[in-house]
Amino acid sequence: MEPVQLFVPTFRVEETLAAIRVCLEKGWTGLGFKTVEFEEAWKQYSGLPHAHFLNSATAGLHLALRLLKENDGWRDGDEVITTPLTFISTNHAILYEHLRPVFADVDEYLCLDPVVVAARITPRTRAVMFVGMGGNTGQFAEIVRLCRERNLRLILDAAHMAGTRWQGQHVGAEADVTIFSFQAVKNLPTADSGMICFREKKLDDDVRKWTWLGINKDTYSRTLEQAAYKWYYDVEHEGFKYHGNSIMAAMGLVALKYLDQDNAYRRQLATWYDTFLQGQVETVPIPPECESSRHLYQVQVENRDQVMLALNEQQIYPGVHYRDNTIYRMYEYAKGTCPRAFEASQRLISLPLHLRLSYTDVERVSHALIRAVSFLKSCG
Ligand SMILES: Cc1ncc(COP(=O)(O)O)c(C=O)c1O
Repeated sequence: MEPVQLFVPTFRVEETLAAIRVCLEKGWTGLGFKTVEFEEAWKQYSGLPHAHFLNSATAGLHLALRLLKENDGWRDGDEVITTPLTFISTNHAILYEHLRPVFADVDEYLCLDPVVVAARITPRTRAVMFVGMGGNTGQFAEIVRLCRERNLRLILDAAHMAGTRWQGQHVGAEADVTIFSFQAVKNLPTADSGMICFREKKLDDDVRKWTWLGINKDTYSRTLEQAAYKWYYDVEHEGFKYHGNSIMAAMGLVALKYLDQDNAYRRQLATWYDTFLQGQVETVPIPPECESSRHLYQVQVENRDQVMLALNEQQIYPGVHYRDNTIYRMYEYAKGTCPRAFEASQRLISLPLHLRLSYTDVERVSHALIRAVSFLKSCG
């Protein structure tokens, strides 16, 4: 029996190697060249007005908070409303800027519940951080409305959302800043990289300095200028080494060509799962206006850990997205504040979902899951 893994990235190997070769032959693997090309291609694809290529989405989440804090004059200890059901990058980024993560509960889509978010707003709330779980938009439109009404900044952690559309438009335009991940197992795989897309031009201009140590002109632009005194750049403030490089951008440019096709196949896999699991296992809904990237296919079961072990015995290796962050020691000040996320985090399983799976694989995983769930139920 072949093992079935949660994620296996698919790279178009020859095409990707050819794109990388161009960088090697030109002698330009760093910031500029392919990173510029990829930013343009991403803007074209997503319809977002600005895009800056980074070495990860984690860096992007940090920069989102750094720049909004700086621009809007937030103070240390100001609050950002966030979800406990996410990868810890989301919440660590809030702490990097000495802001306070205030956890709000999730809804049936496993995304922030706007009613709970509204109840968590205080005079110190500055922003809401929304995570599109597995590519799902959940009630994002309600969150957008709430943030506009209450004059709060909106950050969209779109790590799972490359290719997600809402009412036919790529997600991201409604947020003040949207951050995508192109890490190896994401829908647009490189090895590690990400994209930050600010709505305002000023913040997009600023972020380019923050990703390269505060230097106000990158080496590539200086090389293009061919002017004398190229070394006379200025350093306006401190910054980070967060920009992306041309090797990752070359990989990303190839992957982008296949993103819609790949996501369509992911949705096909999800439809097959839906068919097999219907009426047998609880799945996570997706609103009808959302064309999800389908980064994840999540189910909720009783006896989750035993179900996982039973699947492992069948050489099936699913995952869990995520454990409720408030059970971790550093966030336990918020333990018990988000009961729905806590309960989900004990019942969730992400089933294998990647481009190498076939109809037969989905059938095998589904039947093994149904058998495990009903066997454990019969054991009481
Ligand atoms: C919801 C979420 N946010 C942020 C990240 C961080 O992405 P990266 O690995 O590109 O830093 C991830 C990655 O797994 C994620 O799943």
